[in-house]
Amino acid sequence: MIRVLKGHIVSAPRLGELDVVENGFLVLDGGVIRGVYDRLPAEYAAAPLTDYGDCLLMQSFADMHLHAPQYPMLGMGMDLPLLDWLNTYAFPTEARFADTDYARRVYRRLASDLITNGTTRVCMFSSLHTEATWILMEELEKAGVTGYVGKVNMDRNNAPGVLEETTEQSVAETLRWLDGCRFDHVKPILTPRFTPSCTDELMAKLGQIAAERGLCVQSHLSESIPEMEWVRRLHPECERYWETYDKYGLWKDHTLMAHCVHSDAAERAAMKKAGVVAVHCADSNVNICSGICPVRQMLNEGLWVTLGSDIAGGAQLPMYKVITATIRTSKNRRIVDDWQTDFLTVEEAYYLGTTSGHRYFGAGEGFAPGDKLHAIVLDDSDFPESGKPLTVRERFQRAIYMTHRHNIVAVWSDGRCVVGE
Ligand code: GUN
Ligand code: FE
Repeated sequence: MIRVLKGHIVSAPRLGELDVVENGFLVLDGGVIRGVYDRLPAEYAAAPLTDYGDCLLMQSFADMHLHAPQYPMLGMGMDLPLLDWLNTYAFPTEARFADTDYARRVYRRLASDLITNGTTRVCMFSSLHTEATWILMEELEKAGVTGYVGKVNMDRNNAPGVLEETTEQSVAETLRWLDGCRFDHVKPILTPRFTPSCTDELMAKLGQIAAERGLCVQSHLSESIPEMEWVRRLHPECERYWETYDKYGLWKDHTLMAHCVHSDAAERAAMKKAGVVAVHCADSNVNICSGICPVRQMLNEGLWVTLGSDIAGGAQLPMYKVITATIRTSKNRRIVDDWQTDFLTVEEAYYLGTTSGHRYFGAGEGFAPGDKLHAIVLDDSDFPESGKPLTVRERFQRAIYMTHRHNIVAVWSDGRCVVGE
């Protein structure tokens, strides 16, 4: 069925480019984008039209790294660095997801908060619990959030008696979980927590499962200096952190690596060569004092960079907040780099939080014909009066900094209107 949406259409097809079609028309055929037009082609004149008036019709967001079972600790426990933070706060919080009723309540709320804030695609860590992971996938599916979820693997240096699994359990539960994943829009991704959490035997097994079943992999890389020193002690045979994944077939095209704050030039080159995707988590890296990621440098080198909220190291679930945190981080990087690196513009950071992430799922650039629609409709009419007429580009920039959830009046995910119809 043909359907037409009308509004000020804003998209970021390429890094630093913003496409603006004022009072434009977006034509859908069964949820698939036919095209974006400044004047409606005559052939669609009789099609049903949804007029979003003076609202902005923008690309929705992709959150490429977050920990669902850390949602209950959002905004708390930011006083420790990564490794102490994991043991003190994150692991005990995740342990509670053995309780499936609790998991249902938390994950229903998380799914609702994601979709109403305009995040329609995710790559997410669950906990090690199989049942709770299925519940998470089901709640995302019901809310209209699409993407990948991983049952976490962690068979060493975990929280004994609280959050632990043996190597055999980890493998058996992963296979049981994979066989029970039957969701249309939420798919499984293999998720070794990080090298310190996984024995060599488990890593090897996960590499084998990834190859046999054609599954993608997500994990953490070079997030903090003490973490990297620990990895070096665990794997003296590896010169760099990335090699500990490569050894077991987990370093491959479309492997997602969160953080990469301290990846050096050689590690970054290895990412580019393999097609590994970096997930930059600006808010988290400051909250738990990991470091200031050289994002501009990564982009200059041609790396594929996406953004993640990294809940609950990050304390901001809405991706428009993560985007502004990314811009601030790039400005801090510029300051510590003696003004030698450029900061990210709003348009660039928006691209990283939208198209760059959507591409991971096979989408094209911006609102590309042939893609299922992933979009938000943003009503900025309650923002403070500016005293002069604003261009759509100015309104877009202001919206990224000033949007609250109530300003997002409709959300389209995978071609379906899931909020506001
Ligand atoms: N490294 C291993 N596990 C985690 C986690 O839960 N959060 C963050 N930020 N880094 C990690
Ligand atoms: Fe993380």
